[in-house]
Amino acid sequence: MTILVTGGAGFIGANFIIDWLQTRNEVVVNLDKLTYAGNLRNLTSVEDNQNYAFIQGDIGDSALIPKLLAEYKPRAVINFAAESHVDRSIHCAEDFIGTNVVGVYRLLNNILSHWSELPETEKAGFRFLHVSTDEVYGALEPDEPAFTEDNSYKPNNPYSASKAASDHLVRAFHHTYGLPVLTTNCSNNYGPFQFPEKLIPLFIHNALAQKSLPLYGDGRQVRDWLYVRDHCAAIRQVLEAGEVGEVYNIGGNNEKTNLEIANMLCEILDEIRPGNGAESYKSLITLVKDRPGHDRRYAMDSSRIQRDLGWRASETVESGIRKTVSWYLENQDWVAATTGGDYHNWVRKQYR
Ligand code: NAD
Ligand code: TYD
Repeated sequence: MTILVTGGAGFIGANFIIDWLQTRNEVVVNLDKLTYAGNLRNLTSVEDNQNYAFIQGDIGDSALIPKLLAEYKPRAVINFAAESHVDRSIHCAEDFIGTNVVGVYRLLNNILSHWSELPETEKAGFRFLHVSTDEVYGALEPDEPAFTEDNSYKPNNPYSASKAASDHLVRAFHHTYGLPVLTTNCSNNYGPFQFPEKLIPLFIHNALAQKSLPLYGDGRQVRDWLYVRDHCAAIRQVLEAGEVGEVYNIGGNNEKTNLEIANMLCEILDEIRPGNGAESYKSLITLVKDRPGHDRRYAMDSSRIQRDLGWRASETVESGIRKTVSWYLENQDWVAATTGGDYHNWVRKQYR
């Protein structure tokens, strides 16, 4: 048996593949375009594993995808591939539409052709699992209940709009053609291998270099943080036992303001890697111009996946962030390798 993972050289996909190979004896084929966010260093621990294969390519390549499906005959495709950074989508959304909308459409179309020709038993067992985000639901007021799967879609930035479009396409391919799909919408992830353009790795990286920690606006925006390995476990559960056509919200039940996260990171660093004399890393926290259209609050109601599939997050934000800080401290070679070249251009453009 084989599964095909797309975008497996990125942050969540790489964690998923590593966990998969540790917990399952089943081949995983990783198709990744290797954009700026794709990094084969994330997968050095599995590159010699006999159950692992890597192919460089684009989910929107309609010559490549049918060949891969015919050759590997996966029982499932799990789609992580995406442009994923909101701030980049605000500068230019072209690549987001290219991969998250057009790419997903082509992937679905090619999978549909392949699936339609499968023998009945294989057809019945096949799954397309689409990994999506809480951002498609828009922003919550402070006293509103967390998002359920029944919330309407109200994406507010080009990234979330492109992910919303992909979710709609996935739904439509099930409703119209019967393609056996599953969709997961997850809250903010953090953990090993996250590219230091996102809040938590950026702040760890900047703090260690004694650079400022740029909090957008008043720093009181709320996110529901989930340790990446808990997300990967949830995806495995949905893949194995999720109801076809269903959507599953996944969250950490860990709502924190960005300021709370920044303070937590600084306190852990003060304790395990004290910086400049007696001064706390907190002195580096700096309020900067807000992100345009910045969503004030996200929170996920994970009752469905908990009730129907028995999934629960195993890390609290405190335990998960401590693990994450330790991982970045122990993997400074990885950080150095991922923050060369283009990374500097991005930082200059975004934070000048
Ligand atoms: P990432 O940016 O770290 O990785 C994306 C990966 O996709 C990279 O390896 C990149 O090379 C690859 N890719 C991009 N375009 C491609 C294409 N056209 N064809 C093939 N590969 C391509 O992203 P991530 O944080 O690992 O997120 C993975 C998925 O999870 C995304 O779909 C994202 O929307 C979703 N998600 C992320 C979070 C989060 O907090 N990071 C939360 C919820 C959902
Ligand atoms: P991010 O990691 O970009 O994820 P998302 O936008 O998908 O939630 O950002 C998390 C939160 O941190 C978000 O409210 C924006 C904020 N943020 C900052 O305040 N400063 C930064 O430099 C970055 C990258 C994010």
